[in-house]
Amino acid sequence: MKVRMIQGAKIISTGSAIPHTKVSNKKISSIVETSDEWIFSRTGIKERRLLTEPGQSVTDLSIRASKEALDKISMDADQIDLIILATSSPNDLFGSASRIQYEIGAVNALAFDLTAACSGFVIGLVTASQFIFNGTYSNILVIGSDVLSKWVNWSDRSTCILFGDAAGAAILQSCDSHLNSMLNFHLSTDGNYSNQLSIPYREKYEPHPVLNLSQGSFQFISMNGKEVYKFAVSQVPLSILKCLRDLDMSVNDVDWLLLHQANDRILTAVAEKLSISHNKIISNLSNYGNTSAASIPLALDEALKSNKILTNDIVVIAGFGAGLTWGTIIIRW
Ligand code: UT7
Repeated sequence: MKVRMIQGAKIISTGSAIPHTKVSNKKISSIVETSDEWIFSRTGIKERRLLTEPGQSVTDLSIRASKEALDKISMDADQIDLIILATSSPNDLFGSASRIQYEIGAVNALAFDLTAACSGFVIGLVTASQFIFNGTYSNILVIGSDVLSKWVNWSDRSTCILFGDAAGAAILQSCDSHLNSMLNFHLSTDGNYSNQLSIPYREKYEPHPVLNLSQGSFQFISMNGKEVYKFAVSQVPLSILKCLRDLDMSVNDVDWLLLHQANDRILTAVAEKLSISHNKIISNLSNYGNTSAASIPLALDEALKSNKILTNDIVVIAGFGAGLTWGTIIIRW
């Protein structure tokens, strides 16, 4: 399927929020059998932020990130038409987006959650662009936010070394020009591998004596790291190439490669497969680890704050993770 944006949709502001508590690899080494050397050499991670303040949740981080994005461009929250919260760690299974809508004062916005794990922000941005494309909405707040520390088994060294908590937000706005906007996207899912990375729900209580209905609870993150690694390194380059080809562009046109921050080895392997120079990779893994849906908007926000990304730069954004789901967006900044 050939997909191109017809009407312009561009990111006009970003914001991010991280918890105060830093947790080093050394500290992780004091709770599971691992080392700073193992974690850094296998993942590129040095430390991560964990949300340790009592009562704080994904909602609080999301509110901070959203307010920053709005404040940066002095936009009143009542101008937002839609809020999409990409998260897999809501503090309410019915959704956390509506609380964010209320807290930031976005009184005119519809708000809903979108669950797509580490691909959540990319899928959220594409979803938002469709509302802009069909003329329904003009200003959309897309948030990627996760507090996976609440769902990590802190005695499982194969997963607990990876994850951190954060939120990132972007405001997508309709625009007349197609030039400085989202140019193309590609999204995919292979549900056959859904059990390779999940937070499964398990029934564990005795069935209700009258209704014969079982109930249970969600478990910890379970991951087949090797399979997820192989999937990312094989599928993400194909997705990016497809997106570029549809636009008659090549890898030489790419200025920045902004991938989901899962593992530095994945970022390097994808760039090498595409023959994209290492200095075009945006990476902040060493400071935050894998922050799931937050990783792309957080890295984007930091790259913009440090003036890395400039007007007219071609930015390739790609997310991948549980589902298994993956996707690419190409933006001319
Ligand atoms: O957001 C998307 C989600 N996730 C990902 O993208 C994760 C993708 N996968 C990965 O990043 C990597 O697979 C990991 C970083 C999770 C693991 O790295 P790996 O190079 O695939 O290691 P491995 O699982 O093959 O384990 C190698 C060895 C094993 O020991 P043996 O069997 O060779 O003796 C593990 O038991 O390393 C051992 N090991 C550890 N040792 C020290 C596994 N975890 C640890 C640890 N510290 N934390």
